[in-house]
Amino acid sequence: MNIFDAGLLHGADYNYEQWLDRPDILDLDLAYMKEAGINVLSVGVFSWSLLESAEGVYHFDWLDECFERLHGNGQRIILATPSGSKPAWLSEKYPEVCRMNADGQRQRHGGRHNHCRTSAKYREACARINTKLAERYGTHPALILWHVSNEYNGMPCYCPQCLSAFRNWLKKRYMSLDALNAAWYTSFWSHRFTSWEQIFPDDASIHGMMLDWQRFTSDATIDFFLAESAPLRRITPDIPITTNFHLPDIGLDCHKFARHVDIVSWDNYPEWHRYGDDAEVAVKAAFFHDLQRSYKNQPFLMMESSPGATSWQGVSKKKKAGMHLLSSIQAVAHGSGSAQYFQWRQSRGGAEKFHDAVITHIGDNKTRIFRDVVEMGVALQKLGGIAAIDNEADPDGGEARAAVVYDFENGWALNNAQLPRSVEKNYQQECIAHYSAFWRAGVPCDVISPEYADFARYQLVVFPMLYMLTEETAEKIRRYVRQRKSAVATYLTGIVNGNDLCYLGGTPGGLTDVFGIAVEETDSIADYENLEFTLDGQTWRASHYADRIRLLGADAPGVFCGPQSDPQTGLPAITTHRYGEGSAYYICARTEAAFLDRFYRRLCEKHGLSPCVLWDIPAGVSVQKRGGAVFVMNFNSRETRISLGEDACRDLLNGKTVCGTLALPPYGAAILKK
Ligand code: GAL
Repeated sequence: MNIFDAGLLHGADYNYEQWLDRPDILDLDLAYMKEAGINVLSVGVFSWSLLESAEGVYHFDWLDECFERLHGNGQRIILATPSGSKPAWLSEKYPEVCRMNADGQRQRHGGRHNHCRTSAKYREACARINTKLAERYGTHPALILWHVSNEYNGMPCYCPQCLSAFRNWLKKRYMSLDALNAAWYTSFWSHRFTSWEQIFPDDASIHGMMLDWQRFTSDATIDFFLAESAPLRRITPDIPITTNFHLPDIGLDCHKFARHVDIVSWDNYPEWHRYGDDAEVAVKAAFFHDLQRSYKNQPFLMMESSPGATSWQGVSKKKKAGMHLLSSIQAVAHGSGSAQYFQWRQSRGGAEKFHDAVITHIGDNKTRIFRDVVEMGVALQKLGGIAAIDNEADPDGGEARAAVVYDFENGWALNNAQLPRSVEKNYQQECIAHYSAFWRAGVPCDVISPEYADFARYQLVVFPMLYMLTEETAEKIRRYVRQRKSAVATYLTGIVNGNDLCYLGGTPGGLTDVFGIAVEETDSIADYENLEFTLDGQTWRASHYADRIRLLGADAPGVFCGPQSDPQTGLPAITTHRYGEGSAYYICARTEAAFLDRFYRRLCEKHGLSPCVLWDIPAGVSVQKRGGAVFVMNFNSRETRISLGEDACRDLLNGKTVCGTLALPPYGAAILKK
C-alpha cells in the first residue's frame, strides 16, 4: 500500500476514548476535522486498559465506532498497538512485565514506556491484543498504517530475564570468556570474568561492557518490536508498519531499527522562540528531519508535532505568527509526507492536560491554533503532488551528494569515555555544527550511518568526532576516498575500534595513510584560552580539543598561530592529502561556524556540489529542494528579502508570481516553482 497515494497527510493523534462520555464533542470533532483538512488520525496509542479490561476481556465497540465515524467522515486511520502503556491488571498479575532497576527493585506500575522487553508474559499479552486488532481492523478500508507502540526507548531493565538474555547475547558475540575478557580489556583493575554469571552491566568503569549493554538494550528493543509486529505482518501483510522515533539520544540505534520498519516516522518538537535565535533551532530540526529521510532514503512521516506549545520542555513558547506553517513546511521540505500533531483535542486531565492541541480547552474552532492548522491543511493540499513525484524518484528532487555521519553507538562510546576534556564533548552538537554549514549554503546534505550507508552515493562525506571507528568502517572510508571522493575527519576520530579498544600506532586508526597524518596526542583547550589558526590568510578560533599531529605526506594549509606560548603554535591545524583518486581532509580542533562555512564552501566548489539555488541565501533563511519545487523558509523574526535574480517563479502557497525579489515576512515561507 502506498500511503501517499492521495497526497500528503495531515493528521493527529486522536484519543477518542477520552471523550466517550461526550457525544456532543465527538460530533463536533468530525466537523472540525473536515474544516482543518485533517485526512488521517492515529488512534488507540494508549488505549489498552479500555480495549482489554481484564485478561482476555475485550471491548472493541468504541473503537469500531471510531473507525466507522472517521471513515464516514472521509478520514483514514493509522492504528496504534497499545504496548506503550500497560494496563494495571497486567502488572498486578504478572509483575515481570515491569522493569527492574540495578538494585533489583521492580518499578511500580504507572507512567508509560517502561515495560520489560524480554518478559515472555508481556510479549504474549502484546501478541494477543495485536492479533485481535489485526483480525478486527486489518481489512477495514480506512486503515493505512500500523503505528507499533510509541516512542520506544533504551532505558535499561536489570531483571533476571534481561540479564540472562544479555549474557546469551554476549555468548553469541564473543563465543568464549577469553574473547570477551580481551575485548573488554579486563586486565585493567583486575576485572577479569571467569563465569558468565559474574557479568552485571552497571559498572561504568568497564567501557566495553557498558557499550555492549547499550547495544544489547537497543537490539532487545528491536527484537521486542519484531515480536509485537509479527501478528500484524502475518495477518495484514499489505499494511505497512512504522514506529514513531523521537529525538535520537534515547539509547536506540535508530539506523539499525529503521531497517525493520516500512516507513520511518518521528516526533518533532523544536523549541521555537526559546533561545531568541530560531535559526539555531531550525538547523537542529533540519538535521533530525534529514536523519529520518536518510535512514531509508525515503519520505518519512512527521507523526507528531505540537500545534502550539508543549508542557514538558521547561519553557515552551506559543508559536508566533507564521511559525506553525513554517515549521510544518520545513518537515515537508526535508522529506516528510505529513504534518501530524499531538494531539487532536487537548486532554481534560492527565499528565499532559496543559499541552496544546488542535482543539484546546476552550473547545471551538475560533482559536489562533486552529486557524494555523487550517492554513497548514490548505498548504498540504496544494503540495499533494510532491509526494507523488517523490515516489517516482524525481530526477530534480535535490538529492544530496554530501553527507554527515552521525552514529548512535559512537555517541554511547564517547559518552562513556573519560577524556582529558570530558566536559562539553557535545557529539551531537558537533555533527549539527558541520551539517549547519551545508544548511546555510543551501547544499542538500544527508545524515548517515557509517555502517549501513552506501558512501558511493556521495561526493563528500564528513566524519565529525567519529571516535569509535570500526575496522570495517575504516576500510569503507579507504575504498571511498580511493574512488575520487572526499572525506573530512576531525579531532577525536578513529580513537577506538568497535570494542572500544584504543588504536595503537597513531590515529585516525587504520587510516593514517589515507589522511597522510598521525595524531600523536590531543590537548584539551580550556575555556579561557584563545588558540588560533590561520588558513588562507584568515585567522580562526580553535576550542575544546586540539590535536598534535605528524605529517605523513599530507599538506598543511592551516597552521596554529598562537598564542606563542601554546605548544600547538606552528603545528598543522588543517591538512589535506591525496589518496588514490580522492582527497582526505583533517580538521585538528573544534572550530567556529564561520570557519566551517568557509571550509565547506571551498570544498563544495571544488567537488561540484552546488547549492540548490543560484541566489545568495541570507542568514536565517533555509532553502531546500523537493519534487522540483524550491522551499524558501525565513526563520528570522524580521522580514527578509531575497534576490532571485532573473528567475520568475510561482509561489505554490499563494499562487502569486514572484519576480526579482522575494520578501518573506517574519517566519514566512514560499514554495517556488519555475
Ligand atoms: C510525545 C509522545 C506523545 C505526547 C507528546 C507530547 O513524545 O509520543 O504521547 O506525550 O510527546 O509532546
